[in-house]
This record gives sequence, C-alpha cells and structure tokens, in this order.
Amino acid sequence: MAHRELLTRHRSVMPKWLALYYDQPIEFASASGRWVTDREGRTYLDFFAGILTNAIGYDVAEISDAVRSQIDTGVLHSSTLYLIQSQVELAEKIAELSGIPDAKVFFTNSGTEANETALMLATQHRRSEQVLALRNSYHGRAFATVGITGIRGWSASALSPVKVSWVHGGYRYRSPFRDLSDADYVRACVADLREIIETTTAGDVACMIVEPIQGVGGFATPPDGLFGEFKKVLDEYGILLVSDEVQTGWGRTGEHFWGIQAHGVVPDAITFAKGLGNGLAIGGVIARADLMDCLGANSISTFGGNPLATTGALASLNYLLEHDLQANAADLGARLLDGLRAVAQAHPVVGDVRGKGLMIALELVGPDGAPHPAAAAALLEESRERGLLVGKGGLYGDVIRLAPPMTLTRAEADEALEILTQSIEAVAKKVQQR
Ligand SMILES: Cc1ncc(COP(=O)(O)O)c(C=O)c1O
Repeated sequence: MAHRELLTRHRSVMPKWLALYYDQPIEFASASGRWVTDREGRTYLDFFAGILTNAIGYDVAEISDAVRSQIDTGVLHSSTLYLIQSQVELAEKIAELSGIPDAKVFFTNSGTEANETALMLATQHRRSEQVLALRNSYHGRAFATVGITGIRGWSASALSPVKVSWVHGGYRYRSPFRDLSDADYVRACVADLREIIETTTAGDVACMIVEPIQGVGGFATPPDGLFGEFKKVLDEYGILLVSDEVQTGWGRTGEHFWGIQAHGVVPDAITFAKGLGNGLAIGGVIARADLMDCLGANSISTFGGNPLATTGALASLNYLLEHDLQANAADLGARLLDGLRAVAQAHPVVGDVRGKGLMIALELVGPDGAPHPAAAAALLEESRERGLLVGKGGLYGDVIRLAPPMTLTRAEADEALEILTQSIEAVAKKVQQR
C-alpha cells in the first residue's frame, strides 16, 4: 500500500522518462550489509547495489563513522576555493593507484561530469572536436556524454558538441565478428578502427573513450588485450585513450583494480564515480599533469570533492583495500559464473553468460537467438519474488546484470545462485508456453 501511494505521487511529479524497476516499484526503507528491506517490510538480497554504487554494502560502520565525524566538525561544504585535507589525501591515493605517471585528479559529483571533463581536457589538449567511441557504449546524460553514448535507448538527442566516429569491439555477442577466434576478433576490430580513422576523421582525433566492460550495454566483455592493440593504432596518430572506469573500477572485475588493466595498457586518462563513495556523490578524472593542466581558463565544480564526500570516499577506499575486496570479487565472481554457465547449458533461453568478477550478465534470447527483452523483464520479476534484486540492461533490454556489493559472502553467492536457477527455470517454462 505504501509503495502504491508513493508511486502515484512519483508519476505525477517526476519526469516520465525516469524509469522505475518492477511492475510494482519499491522503496528501500533500511539496509545492512548486502540486504535491503523495503517500505512494506520485505527483505531482499541486493545484487545490483544501487547500480554498482554501494560497492561495499549498506551500513558500514567505518564509513558511517567517518561521515559522522565530518558532520560533527560543522563543515559540510567549503568549495574548492579553500584547502580540503580529505580531498588532497584522496587525490594522492587515487593518483598512485591509477598507474598513470605524474597523475593529477579532479573531483566531480557524477560519472557524467567526469566524462564531460575528460572530453574537455582531450579536445582542448588536441585542439580537435573529433572523438572515437564504441558502439553499445554508455557514458552519461549531458550533451557531450549523450553524444558519445552508442545505445539508442539512452541517447535522447542527436545534438552534440563533439563529432563522433563509432568503432566495433565492445559488444561481441551480436558483432559481425562474433564467430572469429579471440585473436581474429581483435585483428578485425583493429582493422575497423584504422579504417574508421582513415575514412571518417581528419586524422587529428582528440581521444578514444572506452568502457573496459560495457556497463549499461549489458556487461559486454571484449577479449583481453583488445584495447592494448587499439592503443598502438591510436599512438600512431597521437590520439589519447580515456578509460571510463565508472563501473569497472575499484577491483570489481576481480582480476584487476582497473578494468583496462586486462588490456595491458595504461590509458592517458581514467574517469571514475559510482563505487568510490559507496553511495556518496563523487566522481572524477585522473590524467597526466600535462593533460589535466591544459585548460586555459578557470574551471571549478562547486560541490565536486566536498569534505563530506571525500571523507566518506576515503573511508570506503581504505576499507576496500584493507579487506582486499578485489580478491573477494575474483573468488565469488568465478563461483557465480561457473554456476550460471551450468544453468544456462540446461536453458537455451539464456543465450550468453559473461563478465568478470562481480560484474556478471545473462543475455536472454528467443529460440532463433534473437534478443528477448520480455524474458529479461520476467527474470527481473521472478528473482524479486524469490527475494533477489538484480539489474537489467543491454542494447535491446534483454540482459540481466548481477553486481552485488563486493563484501558479498560465499553463502550469499550460493543463495543468489539458487534463486536465479529457480527463476530461470520459471522463465524458461513461461517462454515455452507462449
Ligand atoms: C560507464 C559509465 N559512465 C558514466 C556513467 C554516468 O554516471 P552518472 O550516472 O554518475 O552521471 C555511467 C552511469 O551508469 C556509466 O555506467
């Protein structure tokens, strides 16, 4: 009842393009660890974590205490006009973790702003408005970031301050090169990149931006090494490489701290957001000093890197490193992937199981292999009915995304696997009945 009333009010005052999950949307009233309880008293295991943002989980004492102690100083905000110790300390830590030589960090409030900043830096540095982006990408909701977003359903406007050329490679499952071996797939995508530069640009492109695993695009995972091979071509033209780590950063992919490290390359810039603040609004850009410092005018973000967000983010980052959550993501991610691949073998409605670490996707397909968004929607509902919250995505809305807090336990992973198995069975039956 509480949910229904709130939904009516939501619909009358919020934009219609602000989509809600579930036939009967829910509000989180309280949460702890990996578990959330809704306003009507139902408890769920959360396998989407506020879109990969509650990376450590809910109600983590170390983070709450740090935020509380900042509140107790009375300074919630001062602006970037003044020194902020937690901001400088966080920047030092992130710069070191980045692997980018002589790195500097600029903080924003979101991933969108982080990518807008990276585009501003790259286009100014190179004095060029040309950008290379991957098909099936998602980089944010402002003008330039919508312009470099390669998913029709998330790109409301064709207006753009940058001129974009689109490159193959991120989304292998429905790529024309899908049946090639890894090595041949990489070769085909590199040849495509070269041809795109030669045929659709003036050569002096500012940057290429990539998500190491495409998040909104359905955790589409290219073969390791692809972006390293891309970088060799980019270097021939002096084109910068920006890695959008908004979803793949902070060890979520298990095997590496940054997703791009699977490609054996250090990018010129990294953008981040989501998981760093464990729910506090923080994002940013890491770039080589010469690139970061290239702007010829002042630029500030009033809220970006504020004392509350940076204190909380510092506590989150320390927690993540001290508890080696990256190793936990690798361990439990492998366990989930194995389990899900076995279930998929028995149920052809699951066409693809992919991902790394705690970033795992199931692509739902019809008998002919066509995208099956209705099956994905049904799986979202079936899982929720059994007490598990998961995410949706993909170019066709046919992908289920699993991305729990990285503090996940083995027992919770097994519980989720059991629920997903039952839910997939239920969906497979429904699909057959049609
Ligand atoms: C890879 C990627 N980049 C950028 C963004 C935009 O971040 P935000 O929603 O914080 O603006 C997102 C959000 O989902 C994302 O997944």
